[in-house]
Amino acid sequence: MNVRDVIASVPREPFIPEEIFVRNEAGWLVPLRRSDDPEQWRERVEVDGPIVTRAEPDPALPGEVCDPVTGRGMISTSSSSAPFIMARLIEAMELEPGMRVLEIGTGTGYNAAVLARITGAGNVISVEIDPVAASSAREALKTVGLPVKVVTGDGEAGYPPGAPYERIIVTASAHTVPYAWVRQVRPGGLIVVPLAATVHPDWPLAVLKVQDDGTAQGRCLGPSPFMPLRAQHVSARSVQETEERWAAAGKPEASRFGVTVTPAGQRIWLDSPDNPVV
Ligand SMILES: C[S@@+](CC[C@H](N)C(=O)[O-])C[C@H]1O[C@@H](n2cnc3c(N)ncnc32)[C@H](O)[C@@H]1O
Repeated sequence: MNVRDVIASVPREPFIPEEIFVRNEAGWLVPLRRSDDPEQWRERVEVDGPIVTRAEPDPALPGEVCDPVTGRGMISTSSSSAPFIMARLIEAMELEPGMRVLEIGTGTGYNAAVLARITGAGNVISVEIDPVAASSAREALKTVGLPVKVVTGDGEAGYPPGAPYERIIVTASAHTVPYAWVRQVRPGGLIVVPLAATVHPDWPLAVLKVQDDGTAQGRCLGPSPFMPLRAQHVSARSVQETEERWAAAGKPEASRFGVTVTPAGQRIWLDSPDNPVV
């Protein structure tokens, strides 16, 4: 199965709302409505890039600084990921038809649709924290004939009623992998999760295998920059500290880093689990 071909077989357009957001010359996120500029809207849908679909005032800024009309102080809170990044994550999942999958971060529902095309819609559950995004994803998934179950809630808790899963895919970044995900995956199953730049400056993708003893362990792959899970924002300062620590260690490749998750918490290591670095 070629993941890029599967992605190409699912239309993206039904998942993209009438109003999307683009950066203006000042770098601010401004609305772009399909009805105002159908050509530019369509161009965004066809390009292999991310599309911002929800924007909110940056909670780190004073309210009066933010303005949805000019885009000043607005940040992206949901998007349709770039198809090439989706492919990177789905390839790492080593999916087979019939596998039970939990996705954290439904967003537009487009990635869930691709997962459903591979495993069957009845095998995919997706959790989204933003009720507006969850509701339009549900509609779009029905429209394309892939009625995935979309749950509105905090995906950091996973979704126990659907467990056990063979795979969990997270389409937002985490600095800390919640143990709830490990508990809900069968031994031998995989958790594919983009890590925040608190491990390596590339925002690497981690692929963790759940072990018989109820822990999960695995290594990092190449870059997979994603917006953070709602409660897992990282400060510019901690990103800078990661960069400094990494430079002081001789700039090791992301693939030399690994992660172990146990009920007691998470350990990041370099080369081997008995060489913890954070
Ligand atoms: C990059 S978007 C996901 C892209 C999506 N998979 C798609 O195909 O359109 C990240 C999404 O994660 C959601 N999110 C953030 N924190 C979450 C959490 N704790 N639980 C569930 N969803 C969360 C955001 O609201 C956002 O919609």
